[in-house]
Amino acid sequence: MELIDKIILPQSAQHLLLLKYILVLTFILFISYASLLFGSFILSIIFEQKSKKQNNLTYKKVSIELIDLITFNKGIAFSLGIIPLLSSAFCYAQLLHLSGLIVTEAIFISTFLFFLALISIYTYKHAIHIKNALDVVKDYNPDGSESDVRNYLLKSSKIINASKILGLIFILLSTYLFIASVEFTQNPEKWTNSNNYSGVIFSFNAFINYIQFILISLGFTSLIILTKNRQAIEQEESYKNFIHNFSLKLGLISTITLPVIITITVITKSKYSLSYNLFSFTLIALILILFVSILLYVMLKQGKINYNFISILLFVLIIAFLIIKDQYAFNIAAKKQFVQLAANYESYQKKLLEETGLLKETISGEEIFNSKCIACHQFDKKVVGPPYNEVLPKYEGKMDELINFILNPVKVNPDYPSMPNQGLKPKEAEAVANYIMNTYKK
Ligand code: HEC
Repeated sequence: MELIDKIILPQSAQHLLLLKYILVLTFILFISYASLLFGSFILSIIFEQKSKKQNNLTYKKVSIELIDLITFNKGIAFSLGIIPLLSSAFCYAQLLHLSGLIVTEAIFISTFLFFLALISIYTYKHAIHIKNALDVVKDYNPDGSESDVRNYLLKSSKIINASKILGLIFILLSTYLFIASVEFTQNPEKWTNSNNYSGVIFSFNAFINYIQFILISLGFTSLIILTKNRQAIEQEESYKNFIHNFSLKLGLISTITLPVIITITVITKSKYSLSYNLFSFTLIALILILFVSILLYVMLKQGKINYNFISILLFVLIIAFLIIKDQYAFNIAAKKQFVQLAANYESYQKKLLEETGLLKETISGEEIFNSKCIACHQFDKKVVGPPYNEVLPKYEGKMDELINFILNPVKVNPDYPSMPNQGLKPKEAEAVANYIMNTYKK
């Protein structure tokens, strides 16, 4: 993307660091949101399907509750979905500037697909609500005299089916592309050979990272369903128990399998991205997961959901640590790239200063004296050349002549050999002349 390469501003090493922090923050927002959206949507579809087959009211209720879980506000979809995606694309555009890696483009495509997924998911949600309302109307008029209701029911069913499939395709594609691109940034071995979309998409690492994302989605979603269910006191007992049982079990299954998958992602990581920090953050995440699964197990045994909030808190931390771990991998993997960018910035900055005339080379007369004159001159003693205390009085008030002599030494005193030309620039000569004159006067 040449356009992007052109609008990128050169970044100093400090700015690059800042961008990496921003990247971690946007990822925490996006992964938390996307995993909830993904989990609740997939589970809602599964229950919708089941309720249709078995004509089961509980399943129907669950599927509606699930799709309402995170889609209650469209602003959230933008602020936690689209905007973090776009900002991560821009961060990568800066961080991977001139590297030729196609990560930014891939994330832009993923954003577009995510947008389509959102449209489909919201359509699904509205259609499922309309169908539910129509079902109620139909139940009040069992004789089915009004064909309008039937017609609309049919239509909403069709919309549900279409939006379900489209939503599924788009959300799978967009999240996979995103996860695969982020994984690609941590894998320098793949950068040279296959810097194309197939290299990004078809890799074992991308696949295993996606499994990790799915497990996180299911685990996180099951914990969040519990909070909603806790608020709804008026829910009937059997329905409540069903949800408890279902989400605690699902949460337990995902938190038990998650460590295995995480371990595989770490083992298969490129050796050019490993670091001490990566291992420590992975370890912390694994310990927290163990903790959450114990809490889930206790809640399942006791039939209470009293540890729900602490579990959610821990789960967000797990997501954060896994992201930080990955960003450490990126940081190590792209080390050379960052050094190169920082060096580009330095030269850009220097050029800019030169162009605007703001570049002031600090010339120190003392330094020049110490490096160029001290071998032959002292103030009070004759060395090769005459002592300054003897020759400088005649230059008092005639700095121009002194500077001239330093620039072009001429024969003065027959007792001395000629002074060789020191090859100074005019500014340097001026500085050293001032220095020796001032020091002599003191
Ligand atoms: C290789 C030795 C050598 C170095 C290095 C050297 N000078 Fe000299 N300098 C001399 C000699 C020899 C003379 C005497 C020349 C003469 O009288 O013709 C001299 C003379 C001078 C004089 C007196 C000129 C006069 O009118 O009597 C000044 C002032 C002076 N040097 C300044 C400097 C400064 C400033 C530097 C460093 C940038 C420097 N010199 C480096 C050898 C040196």
